This record gives sequence, structure tokens and C-alpha cells, in this order.
Amino acid sequence: MNKIKHVAIIMDGNGRWAQERRHPRVWGHVRGSNVVSQIVEKADDIGIEALTLYAFSSENWSRPSSELTVLFKLLKKFIIKETNRIMRNNIRFRIIGDLSGLPIGTVELVRNLELKTQNNTGLKLTFAFGYGGRNEIVSAVNNFIKNNPCKEISCDDLNSNLYLPDTGDVDLLIRTGGDKRVSNFLLWQIAYSELFFVDKKWPEFDGRMLEEIINIVSKRERRFGFIESTDKLETACQIAEKNKTAAISSTLS
Ligand code: FPP
Repeated sequence: MNKIKHVAIIMDGNGRWAQERRHPRVWGHVRGSNVVSQIVEKADDIGIEALTLYAFSSENWSRPSSELTVLFKLLKKFIIKETNRIMRNNIRFRIIGDLSGLPIGTVELVRNLELKTQNNTGLKLTFAFGYGGRNEIVSAVNNFIKNNPCKEISCDDLNSNLYLPDTGDVDLLIRTGGDKRVSNFLLWQIAYSELFFVDKKWPEFDGRMLEEIINIVSKRERRFGFIESTDKLETACQIAEKNKTAAISSTLS
């Protein structure tokens, strides 16, 4: 069984969920923020090491200011409401992305909680807010060039210049809301992640579904581009394939 250590979630469908119920779109965000608290609790309970939640993309800045205001308020409310639980559960909280358009008071709350939790060793909880995967890669490359003007960049170099180098690759990317795309989220880190798309919209998602998805995906075989290990007994098929490969190869030399 493969161990899912880092789960990333695109929390999509809030607006549609609300509109289907004849509520304004932002009502979906309000309900969605309750689900965020529940999912953090569940991820922590089942021993996930890192949870990264896409709360707000760099493209979302073009949304109506009334909707942005609600999102900023929900972030503030989450921090105020959850700080004690975060500390009690030894959770490390961080935000990646661009907070420059947020009210200064909210940015201060974010930075204080990041500082307060910096030595916590439990779940790494990250919100992507004003975040774009391409921006992150460009920023990593630029950082590297600044410090190493005459060197070629390697994958390890890029990894160590990401926003949060210690959080590592994503094992499982979940997207709610029915669409099947990755929307500029953690583009570098999802290179080998399992993808799981859920039709339910984010306000309908819950901890039980998260656990179920993790159970399903844990049973998938992840090969990371390799083929099955050869330290097991070779099957007749594998032997036949090997012989055929050798035959093809010899015709090429
Ligand atoms: C996408 O749904 C979702 C967002 C842009 C915001 C996600 C925010 C939350 C889940 C709540 C924020 C909570 C905290 C604690 C920061 P959409 O509005 O694009 O939905 P649609 O695809 O139905 O239009």
C-alpha cells in the first residue's frame, strides 16, 4: 500500500452550489469555509503529513471586489476561530501566494500565526492564496539565478527554491466540482501525483469522502516512471517480453 503523505485540494464549486440553491455565490464560500475546518481535522486525524488547500488563485483577483472581500473575511475568521485548535494539534500553518491585496490586519494575523506555529511538527497546513503555479516556478528560477548567476539550474535546485521546499511533492491531488483540470495549482509538485476528480461541489465534500479517496488511492500502484520491481519472481509473460525485447534490440544493432 503506498503512503499518501501530501494531499492537495482544489476546492471548486462553491459558486455553483450556492446558485443552484438561489443564494448569492459568496454563500458557497461561507459554507465552503466550514468544510475547510472539517477537512483539516480529518487530515490531521488520519496522519496526513501535509495538506495544501487552493483557496484563491492568482487569476481570482479579477473577481468582483465584493466576492474578494468575503474571501478575505473568511480567511480572517478561520484564523481567529482555529488558532487554538491549530496550536493544540501541533499544526504548522503557512500561506503561499500573494497577499499584497489583502487588508493589512488580515496579513498581520496570517504572519502571526505562521510565526506562532513555526516550530510545530505535526500536519503542515498550507493555504494557497493569490497563488499561481507558474509564478512559483518563475520565482524559484529567479531566486536561483540571483544566487548562482553562472550555474545551470537542476531539479534539486528548483525544488529548494520553491515557496515551501520542506513540503515536497504532492501524492494526491483532489478537485471537487466536476471539472477535470489542474488550474495552475502546484504545477511542479504534482508531476507524479495521483489525480482524483469528484463531481460533488466543495460545500458538499466532507471528511468521510476524504478518507474514502485516500483509501482508494492508497491501493493504486505508483511507478514514478519505473517498471515493476525485478526482485520478484518473473512471470512467463515477463520472460517472453524480455526475450522479444532482446530480439528487437539485436535487429537494431
Ligand atoms: C472556487 O469555487 C473556490 C474559490 C475561488 C474559493 C475557495 C474558498 C473557500 C473554500 C473558502 C475559503 C475559506 C478559507 C478558510 C480561506 P468557485 O466560486 O469558482 O465555484 P464555481 O466553479 O462553482 O464558480
